[in-house]
Amino acid sequence: MTTETLSRPRTDQAGQAIRNTKIPTVVFENSRQVDRHVAIVVESLIRENNSAGAPTVLGLPTGSTPIGVYRELIRLHREEGLDFSNVITFNLDEYWPMPPDSIHSYNRFMRENFFDHVNVPEENIHIPRGDIPIEDVDKFCDEYEREIERAGGIDVQLLGIGRTGHIGFNEPGSDRRSPTRMVMLDPVTRMDAASGFFGEENVPFQAITMGVGTILRARKVILMALGEHKAPIVRRAVEEEITPEVTASFLQSHPQATFVVDSASASELTAVKTPWLVGRVEWTPALEKKAVIWLSQLEGKPLSKLESRDFFEYRMHDLVRRHGGPERIRERVFDAMQETICSTPAGTDERKTVIVFSPHPDDDVISMGGTLIKMAEQGHDVYVAYVTSGNIAVFDHDAMRHTDYVREFLEMFGLDSEESRALDERIRLAMASRGPGEPDDPEVLKIKGLIRKTEATAGAVAAGVPAEKLRFLDLPFYRTGEVKKKPIGEEDVAIVADLLRELNPAQIYVAGDLSDPHGTHRMCAEAIIKALRVVEEQGIEPETWLYRGAWQEYEPHEIERAVPLSPEVLLKKKMAIFKHESQKDRALFPGHDPREFWVRAEHRTKNTARVYNELGLPEFYALEGFVRFQGQL
Ligand code: F6R
Repeated sequence: MTTETLSRPRTDQAGQAIRNTKIPTVVFENSRQVDRHVAIVVESLIRENNSAGAPTVLGLPTGSTPIGVYRELIRLHREEGLDFSNVITFNLDEYWPMPPDSIHSYNRFMRENFFDHVNVPEENIHIPRGDIPIEDVDKFCDEYEREIERAGGIDVQLLGIGRTGHIGFNEPGSDRRSPTRMVMLDPVTRMDAASGFFGEENVPFQAITMGVGTILRARKVILMALGEHKAPIVRRAVEEEITPEVTASFLQSHPQATFVVDSASASELTAVKTPWLVGRVEWTPALEKKAVIWLSQLEGKPLSKLESRDFFEYRMHDLVRRHGGPERIRERVFDAMQETICSTPAGTDERKTVIVFSPHPDDDVISMGGTLIKMAEQGHDVYVAYVTSGNIAVFDHDAMRHTDYVREFLEMFGLDSEESRALDERIRLAMASRGPGEPDDPEVLKIKGLIRKTEATAGAVAAGVPAEKLRFLDLPFYRTGEVKKKPIGEEDVAIVADLLRELNPAQIYVAGDLSDPHGTHRMCAEAIIKALRVVEEQGIEPETWLYRGAWQEYEPHEIERAVPLSPEVLLKKKMAIFKHESQKDRALFPGHDPREFWVRAEHRTKNTARVYNELGLPEFYALEGFVRFQGQL
């Protein structure tokens, strides 16, 4: 392989140090290993300094990326006595204006996710203040820099990376020497923050951030990245030239900077994506398939027309020499791809019980609606289990419209009562008095959940699954009313396990996303996988397939089953997606893709069909791709 194993003391899983990057980059299989590795680096430094009686100065980020590291550090504090009493912290940034107790403030984030659970002395905690008047900002920023100096400088600076390539809130154009200062947020950054603020219009335009210069003065820098959506910017930062357009690229000039990333965010790195281009590789069947499909796409030739010189031009001599020559290679990859095509995904021999687990109420039809329609049409017993209520993704105006409807409905039929009027009053008041970006009142959340439930029912029925085969699991981990969720607990797992026991399915479908913006899909998958382990002992072992949610498609070489959709089935799928009215026209959670869900669904499935066609496989109208679950995501 082009990568070499990097083993470090006390790291239970070894990362791989990637070659050909301008910043040392270590890749771990999954986010938990990244969390553990980074936590261990911090832990070792603190313990070393504690035993020498010296303070440890940490630079800390917020956002979704470091949450797991904070959890692991909290665990080390509670269970392994890691002492933070001589730790001094400086946070990277804070929105401005922003009261420190707001649910959106980084101050509150840090307290809830870290400081409330460890023993960093209050006077050692420094977080830029979002509640100071504009005229005091410059003075505050100068003082922040001096505080860092007085503390002796930052020992380890942890960072995330934004899709703009920002570190801290140093957006494109920031100077290499920039100090702590007030900045304008990039539109991409505001869009990424939008769902957390329940709408882009609520996201502040400005922030106070440590500068690039401040970050570069830290003695050691660790940048973490998790998820496929970070893959392009990670590659840009570590493989291309230093540019103020990608402020993370300035870390190339830091002698002690490392990127610690999961395999999803490393997927665009040259040594990961096309390892045969940068050195010797061990040719496995999976790598052969990946390389040959890549070659075919690059050359714009179907598999059957690839020639020896195409292989030689792109450093595949070894493959050709040792694995049977171009003829055999072409045949093998062609056959492997051909075998993925399957128009009867639940089989033909008997009526099977199938459960499609849909993380949110619309993922079933958006991501595998065609397959759902076909399985139902082919006479299988298809159930859909909606894992969460999806209630936070409904706009107030939609909830209000439904409330109006119910009030008028009750009045029209003389069914209104004192109770119904009082409830109506309460709901209107709750919606009117909610501040911008504040979470909903529990009764309003119920209404929003109900809207999504009725839409899901209409969508599934349009796909041919009757209402009595729908299960609304409403898992507890999601019931926070906020974007932030609780970790998966026993109750979540028990609910899924009960369903598996009750239906004893032959086949199940799970959203296997690595890039869901808020991690809900990943958490749903975690609950289902844990439940599978529980019921396995009772002999319940369904064939498990993964599908991709609305954010990303599987790469062609990954697809293990491709279900062809006819124009009629694709149209029916779109009609089912249309039932999710509350998610149309600027849905709250579009993720990083501005297209409407039905447009994405159509593009995705037609694109997969185009790829198959261009590889020289049969030409289909549209295809839905699946991957067999192999024990972990
Ligand atoms: C947060 C910060 C930002 C984030 C970056 C990634 O304090 O300074 O640079 O690290 O936007 O955010 P997540 O981790 O949410 O993807």
